[in-house]
Amino acid sequence: MKAIILPEVGNYERLILGDAPDPKPSAGEAIIKIHAAALNHRDLWITKGLYANIKVPIILGSDGCGVVIEVGADKDRHWIGKKVMINPSMNWGNDLKAQDKDFKILGLPDNGTLAEFVLAPAMNLAEKPNYLSDEEAAAIPLAALTAHRALFTQGNLQKHHTVLINGIGGGVAALAMQMALAAGAKVIVTSGRDDKIQRAVDLGADFGINYNNPDGFKKLGEQSQSFNGIDLIIDGAGGKGFNQLINAVKPGGRIVIYGATAGLPDSIDLRKVYWRQIHIVGSTMGTNDDFRNMIEFITTHRIKPVVDKVFSFAQFKEAFRQMDLSEQFGKIVLKP
Ligand SMILES: NC(=O)c1ccc[n+]([C@@H]2O[C@H](COP(=O)([O-])OP(=O)(O)OC[C@H]3O[C@@H](n4cnc5c(N)ncnc54)[C@H](OP(=O)(O)O)[C@@H]3O)[C@@H](O)[C@H]2O)c1
Repeated sequence: MKAIILPEVGNYERLILGDAPDPKPSAGEAIIKIHAAALNHRDLWITKGLYANIKVPIILGSDGCGVVIEVGADKDRHWIGKKVMINPSMNWGNDLKAQDKDFKILGLPDNGTLAEFVLAPAMNLAEKPNYLSDEEAAAIPLAALTAHRALFTQGNLQKHHTVLINGIGGGVAALAMQMALAAGAKVIVTSGRDDKIQRAVDLGADFGINYNNPDGFKKLGEQSQSFNGIDLIIDGAGGKGFNQLINAVKPGGRIVIYGATAGLPDSIDLRKVYWRQIHIVGSTMGTNDDFRNMIEFITTHRIKPVVDKVFSFAQFKEAFRQMDLSEQFGKIVLKP
């Protein structure tokens, strides 16, 4: 089969579109013929060697939508011919609060979805909701699962809340905004680009702040009559700007952090954290229950992810380049 393979770490330029053996299912597994796959920042981190326990060669890709063509056990035959999305969160374990040490994500250490066929546990399959196209369905699993757990399980979002979503152009961030709006919350966004802030406002956000503008966060104060403080911040960036988030959230509020695209902060103002009674909570992917709840939520609210661009597998370098430069708003999709 054709696949996008990382033969060695370095950067995304090392990736090749090559041939790989077709996967074969054991009991409990299924083979999915991929119709569309989507990128996550994780794929880019892995190409750069900035991820734990990298093994090469590897076929990247955690997100996919396609048709089940083969299963390893008779009890899973009902999946054959069904159009599915794959839950990339595997071996979570029994503790709903945090994943087990055997937890893994599709696309490393096991081969992922940037291929004509992918092998996945049958228990990780979910039927594709009919209202989503293949490209939209491929854009959902990892980012929407992460956004859903961050907002609801870890963030305890309520409909009367105001939520600030940092770096709105990101795949997780854009889905978090769509879900928070669907839940009835007021949404404020940040971005490094004014056109992305405008896009978010067009999609329902109240207003936005450019995090590259040194006075950007002052706008929160100027607009403070229009909302009753920020109850929840959803952040995938970290970095130097993290202390601005600690200043921005209201006393007793919560910051849920799921990523550190901008690196680690040099320091954290702990006095503000304890004096202002701020909850800083980590969040990663989600349980099987989180995945089911996420699908139910997006289906009920007919949420369609924002697909920025659809590339062919042959155009994979351009797809990775756009993510590397944060050019996208939402998700980048690739088709075999
Ligand atoms: N813990 C988990 O389970 C989990 C799951 C998914 C992702 N992640 C991590 O979360 C991060 C985002 O993932 P993704 O797939 O959504 O990535 P993505 O689609 O590539 O989005 C990254 C976004 O980060 C924003 N950004 C960059 N620098 C920033 C800064 N200094 N301040 C604020 N925002 C900044 C940019 O938004 P603008 O373009 O609007 O400026 C950019 O679009 C990655 O680090 C990823 O590894 C973790």
